[in-house]
Amino acid sequence: MATYETIKQTLLTYQQEHLLHFYDQLTETEQQSLLTQIDQIDFENLKETSQQQEERATISALPSHSAEMFTTTELVNMHEHGLSLLADGKVAVVLLAGGQGTRLGHNGPKGTVNMDGTAATSLFALQAKRIQALQQEVKTTISWYIMTSPINDEETTTFFKENGYFGLKPEQITFFLQDVSPALTPEGKVMLEDKGTVFQAPNGNGGVFASMQKAGILAELKNNHVKWVFFNNIDNALVQVADPYFLGYADQQGAAISSKSVKKADPNEKVGVLGQRDGKPSVIEYSELTEEQRHQPELQDANIGIHLFDVEFLEQTADQVLPYHLAHKKISTIKEDGTTVQPLEPNGYKLEKFYFDVFPYASNMSIFQVERANEFLPVKNKTGKDSLEEAQKRFN
Ligand code: UTP
Repeated sequence: MATYETIKQTLLTYQQEHLLHFYDQLTETEQQSLLTQIDQIDFENLKETSQQQEERATISALPSHSAEMFTTTELVNMHEHGLSLLADGKVAVVLLAGGQGTRLGHNGPKGTVNMDGTAATSLFALQAKRIQALQQEVKTTISWYIMTSPINDEETTTFFKENGYFGLKPEQITFFLQDVSPALTPEGKVMLEDKGTVFQAPNGNGGVFASMQKAGILAELKNNHVKWVFFNNIDNALVQVADPYFLGYADQQGAAISSKSVKKADPNEKVGVLGQRDGKPSVIEYSELTEEQRHQPELQDANIGIHLFDVEFLEQTADQVLPYHLAHKKISTIKEDGTTVQPLEPNGYKLEKFYFDVFPYASNMSIFQVERANEFLPVKNKTGKDSLEEAQKRFN
C-alpha cells in the first residue's frame, strides 16, 4: 500500500495534487480510502489520453465471407465441426454486461429488461436459453463468464439467483467484476466526486481482458483446454450464442479472431466497420472514413459485437495497456471551495477502454457476414431505432 508521501509525489509528477485538496478535512478512514483510490489510477495512461492526436490512417478491407459463398456440404461440415468443438469442451462464452445502459435509462442491469413482462424473456434469459439448447444438443456443459461492474454486480447476481439461473447450473456461471476509471476535466485534471471520493465509472468493455486475467479466468480456460472464447454484448436480443456455424467457420479459417458482421443498412449508416487500419485488424469509426470509403463494397461489414477469440491470443495480449477513449459527459463534482456542482452541460470526460483495441495485435482476422434480420436486434434505447420497443414488437 502506497503511503501519503509516495502518493503526493506521484500527484506532483502528474500535476494532479488537487486530489488531496480536502485531505486534512477527512477522517482517518476516509483518508485511507482516498489514498487507495488514487493509488489505483494509471496516471501514465491518463497523460497519454489527454495528449491523443488524430492521425489519418490507411484503411483497407479484411477477408469477409457469408453463407452464400459456401456449398451446402461445406455449410453442413462447418456446423458439424462447430458442434464437435462444443462437445469437446473447446468453447467458453463471455458476456459483456458491465455497462451503465445510460441511453436505455432502465432502473437495473440492462440484461433484466424483458420482452413480455416476465424474467423468462429478459435479455439474460434469452442468452441462457441459447446456451441450454446447445448443451442439450452436444450433451456437455458450457462455461459462461459474465462481466459485471460495481454499479450492477449485486443486482445481476441476485437476478440470476432469484430466477434459478434460468435452468443452468450455478457452478457453470462465473460472474467477474470489471474495473472503474476516473474522469478528467478539459484541463486533464482527475475529478473528485466529493472531498474523499474520486469520481469513478466502469472503465468500458475493453477492461474485459485484464479483468479476466485478474480473476484467473484466462488461466482456467487454458487449464481446461478451451480453444475459443465466444464474446458478445448483453443488448442483442437475437444473438446466437456460440453459434456452431460461426465456430466451425472460425476454426477452419484459423485466424486469432473471427467476427460476425451485418452488411451496413446503407453506406452512410453511422456504425463502426470491420477492416484494417494501417494493415492491422480494427474497428473503423464512421468518422474516420472518407465519403468514397463509406461506399466501398469491401468496407460494408458493420461491427455487431460478436467475436470468437483464440484463447492463446487473449493470453498473449491481456497485459497490453489499452488506450482510454474520451466521452464528454455531465459529471457531478466538487469545487475547490467545497461546493458541489450538478452540471447541466457536459463538464468532463469519462474514460473508457474498448475491447476492439486488441484487434490490431492479431496477425489476422476473418469476418462472417450474417443476416441482420436474423441475428442483430440491439436494445440501446427505450423507443425508436435499436430500442426495447422495437425488440418487444418482434417478440410478441
Ligand atoms: P454500450 O457501449 O452500448 O454501453 O455497451 P451501454 O452501457 O450498454 O449503454 P450506454 O452507452 O450507456 O447507453 C456495449 C456492451 O459493452 C458492455 C455493455 O454492457 C454492452 O454489453 N459494457 C460497456 C461493459 O461491459 N462495460 C462497460 O464499461 C461498458
